[in-house]
Amino acid sequence: MRIYQAKDYNEMSRKAANIISAQVIMKPDAVLGLATGSSPLGTYRQLIDWYRKGDLDFSEVHTVNLDEYKGLSPSNPQSYYYFMQENLLGHINVKPENTNIPNGLETDEALECSRYNDIIKKLGGIDIQLLGIGNNAHIGFNEPGDAFEKGTHCVRLTENTIQANSRFFSSMDEVPRYAYSMGIQNIMEARYILLIASGAAKAQALYNALFGPITPAVPASILQLHPNVFVVADTDALSLIKEKGLL
Ligand code: F6R
Repeated sequence: MRIYQAKDYNEMSRKAANIISAQVIMKPDAVLGLATGSSPLGTYRQLIDWYRKGDLDFSEVHTVNLDEYKGLSPSNPQSYYYFMQENLLGHINVKPENTNIPNGLETDEALECSRYNDIIKKLGGIDIQLLGIGNNAHIGFNEPGDAFEKGTHCVRLTENTIQANSRFFSSMDEVPRYAYSMGIQNIMEARYILLIASGAAKAQALYNALFGPITPAVPASILQLHPNVFVVADTDALSLIKEKGLL
């Protein structure tokens, strides 16, 4: 595992975008595993900028996203499909048919999970998987639990998450209760992992994930077993690790 220190969110984003760019330049038909959330926004902005300047070409790239809310259509502004169009995919020359995200409208969970696992397999696996980390060290929608979930699965969102998400919806009834998420095995099979973290709110999770015991209670701790992990984090996110003299 390599930890790259950045002074702030912008520097973290630029370094992460550099790593993804290197992957795309070295392997123009790379399979990029992508994430949503606030962490990758700056990385995506930087990639779009380099694409516009002519430095990057995504025409042969394939993408697979980590997760999607169950029950939300792609046109719903809260869907991860919508997020990806708005913040990356709609601004670069990736072919729409080469982009993949779990289908939130599929009600047959077993069918959707096996379809998504098959997509990843048929693409020959993920070259580099971009990950954010939750305050509780979740990755994708793999929440702390008693066991690591293997493949793509349907997750019941925690009450906390449902409450937190309710601010984006006009009524409680509209707030998704479930999500489809890649499992830990899908993530661990990626050839490279790029974990990004910014802000003091991530400091404890990052310390637990990188230096604590490997346990499903800290889902990101499994990354310690992956042979090729790049962590790009800013000073605030690394504060606890530094305080303990581990960096
Ligand atoms: C997003 C995802 C989540 C986020 C995590 C961090 O697709 O799967 O695991 O990466 O919740 O979210 P932010 O970046 O908003 O702090």
